[in-house]
Amino acid sequence: MRLPITGDTEPIGARRLSVLMDEDHSISILSHEGTTAAEGLGRDHGSAAALTEATLHTWLSQGLVVAAVITMAVLFVVSAPYGRHTRSGWGPRIPQRLAWMVMESPAVVGFGAIYCLGSHRAALVPLLLLGLWQVHYIHRTFIYPFRSPSRGTPWPVTVVVLGFAFQTLNSYLNARWISHLGTYDASWMLDARFSLGVALFGFGFVLNLWSDGVLCRLREPNDGGYRIPRGGAFEWVSCPNYLGEILEWIGWSIATWSLAGTAFALYTIANLGPRARSHHRWYLDQFDDYPKQRKALVPYVW
Ligand SMILES: NC(=O)c1ccc[n+]([C@@H]2O[C@H](COP(=O)([O-])OP(=O)(O)OC[C@H]3O[C@@H](n4cnc5c(N)ncnc54)[C@H](OP(=O)(O)O)[C@@H]3O)[C@@H](O)[C@H]2O)c1
Repeated sequence: MRLPITGDTEPIGARRLSVLMDEDHSISILSHEGTTAAEGLGRDHGSAAALTEATLHTWLSQGLVVAAVITMAVLFVVSAPYGRHTRSGWGPRIPQRLAWMVMESPAVVGFGAIYCLGSHRAALVPLLLLGLWQVHYIHRTFIYPFRSPSRGTPWPVTVVVLGFAFQTLNSYLNARWISHLGTYDASWMLDARFSLGVALFGFGFVLNLWSDGVLCRLREPNDGGYRIPRGGAFEWVSCPNYLGEILEWIGWSIATWSLAGTAFALYTIANLGPRARSHHRWYLDQFDDYPKQRKALVPYVW
């Protein structure tokens, strides 16, 4: 039996509390809803923790924007040492297909796991967004490495570790946002931002897939050389696969209307913009007959 000490419930803060003494003379504080204050404080602590995660999530997303600016500045000076820009001096290497799968795996496995922990995991819009993400990354992680006609030059472990770290952070930020911290009710599907974002994502995905397909077919089996890609979007830019990838993630940022999505889109631009310029210059250096009107990444502009 619990005896009231204060006789009546006392308003403490926004909640009315009773102070009670148990038979063993221990003191409990009972809130108006019948939970102990310790439990209530635990709940408050829980909401404080949720707030802390939301704040941390914002800081990390902002950090990714800063990282994008730094990455872009560095990559305009030093091109990432894989593919045609492979060079020595970057430490130990691992096979190229394994490198792709390890580097991108957090975007499938980590993203999926974090998504499933979210409180909105069964809601329609988050599920659609999950579908978009996974279509891209299941292809990129498990199918693309086997379509790729790469010369098979092993990749520096450094590139793989940096890519893995980026994808771990990026997957947390985006999965946690769509399945827990952000709120999307079904009416978001009628919002123009959702339709535009999904359409742009779809267009970018098809452009990326098609362009990588053209590059895949340029080489004969056991042919390690490079040829001038022609036709379709290659008549306008040297790297339509990168343009497609960038459009996809701009589409994602619009469809999710989130800081996390925007940070990822900016990071993709920061990563692929300088690489497109390096590829474009490399083509001009290597091929005298390389089409002069072709731009690096943005048709008619750059
Ligand atoms: N979201 C991001 O930040 C991000 C970052 C990196 C890559 N990606 C995506 O990953 C995919 C591959 O990227 P990547 O940097 O490896 O693309 P890439 O340099 O265009 O190469 C794509 C593939 O085609 C081959 N290839 C390229 N140009 C060729 C030519 N002229 N003749 C013959 N073969 C050629 C390459 O072989 P080699 O490997 O032997 O050069 C490679 O296997 C792209 O779809 C890209 O958008 C995304």
